[in-house]
Formats: sequence, C-alpha cells, structure tokens
Amino acid sequence: MMASKTHYTILLLSAVMASLFTGSAAGVYHIVGAGKGWWMAPNKTYYEDWARTRNISIGDKLMFLYRSGVYNIVEVPTKELFDKCSMKIITNRYQNGPTIIELTQQGPRYYFCGVGKHCEVGQKLAINVSAVAPPQPDAPNTSSATTSTGAGLRYLTGLAVCVVSELLM
Ligand SMILES: *[C@@H]1O[C@H](CO)[C@@H](O)[C@H](O)[C@H]1NC(C)=O
Ligand SMILES: *[C@@H]1O[C@H](CO)[C@@H](O)[C@H](O)[C@H]1NC(C)=O
Ligand SMILES: *[C@@H]1O[C@H](CO)[C@@H](O)[C@H](O)[C@H]1NC(C)=O
Ligand SMILES: *[C@@H]1O[C@H](CO)[C@@H](O)[C@H](O)[C@H]1NC(C)=O
Repeated sequence: MMASKTHYTILLLSAVMASLFTGSAAGVYHIVGAGKGWWMAPNKTYYEDWARTRNISIGDKLMFLYRSGVYNIVEVPTKELFDKCSMKIITNRYQNGPTIIELTQQGPRYYFCGVGKHCEVGQKLAINVSAVAPPQPDAPNTSSATTSTGAGLRYLTGLAVCVVSELLM
C-alpha cells in the first residue's frame, strides 16, 4: 500500500517536473476534472460540465491524473462509440497514470475509462479542439501566451502539492 502510494507520488512529481521543463512551448495544460482528476465521476455530466468551462485548442495538453490499474483511458473515434461506451474500435489506450496527451488536431476527441462500468457511470470526456487559442480579453497582446502557460503551471504545481499531501496523510 505504502509502496504504491509512493510510486504514484513519484509519477505525479515527474509529470509536474516534465511539464515545467517543456512548459516554454505554447499550449495550455488542462487538468481533466480539475482538482479531482480522472476518477469515477459522481454523475453523468461531471466531465461534460468541466469541458464546458475550458477553451481547448491545438497545442494544448490534457493531463489525466489517475491511479494505474484502477483507471485507464481509451480513445474512440466516433460519438456513437463514445455514447455507447463501446470499445469496438479504439484509437488509443493509456494505462500508466498520469497521462499527458498533446492535442495536435482540430475537431472532436472522445475519451473514457475502459475499466468496469466506469464509463457508464460518467467517467467519459468529449472535447472539441479548436484551431487557434481564443484571444485573451484582458491580457496585453505581447504576453498572452506566457500568462496562460504560467497560470496553468502554477495551478498544476498547486494541485500536485495538494494531491501529494493527501497521499502522505
Ligand atoms: C455533479 O457532481 C458535481 C460534483 O459533485 C456537482 O458540482 C454537480 O452539480 C453535479 N451535477 C449534477 C447534474 O448533479
Ligand atoms: C472561450 O472563448 C470565448 C471566445 O472565443 C470566450 O467568449 C469564452 O469566455 C471562453 N471561455 C472560457 C471558459 O474561457
Ligand atoms: C467543433 O467546433 C467547430 C468550430 O469551432 C464546429 O464547427 C464543430 O461543429 C464542432 N464539433 C463538435 C462535434 O462540436
Ligand atoms: C498590441 O499590438 C498592437 C499591434 O501589434 C500594438 O500596437 C500594441 O501596442 C500592443 N498592445 C500591447 C498592450 O502590447
């Protein structure tokens, strides 16, 4: 138990460190599900509600925080498969959390957890990647890219600290 907690913590920290060092490239980190990460959602609209609050563009990254072996991520190509939680066709599968997915193409992407009935319960995420980042209304145009990345990283670091302290308790 202790070992797997430590393992998880180390993975998480390495993800955060990796993101700090690659963070100079454009692109915003979106922590899926915000503070709760990728887990068995309390209701069916949980991730839909989260996605609605985000503008996700090409070059951004989705960060799924989860425990390997308990959750995973499968990507399916169509809304039909997504709606049915069907794994008949899978375009990607990730099972070593945390997972960072860089979004390189415009258009819809469909993810869900392929473990048990997690998808049916609501552990599923559909996003629509837009072509360009929307302008940031109150940021000066010279530094808008830096501010959004900076804010994302500050948030990420804060979150990591929370998760780690929770794990250590
Ligand atoms: C789903 O759960 C979240 C978190 O508990 C809550 O904020 C939200 O209002 C819930 N939505 C519905 C439709 O119950
Ligand atoms: C997303 O971008 C649009 C403009 O393109 C803006 O009106 C909206 O407030 C943004 N939403 C969020 C959650 O940032
Ligand atoms: C995704 O967004 C584009 C334009 O921003 C829109 O044309 C398209 O219909 C959207 N797709 C989905 C599945 O919502
Ligand atoms: C925004 O860009 C315009 C044109 O490139 C420039 O004239 C203006 O000074 C810039 N504003 C800020 C706040 O950087």
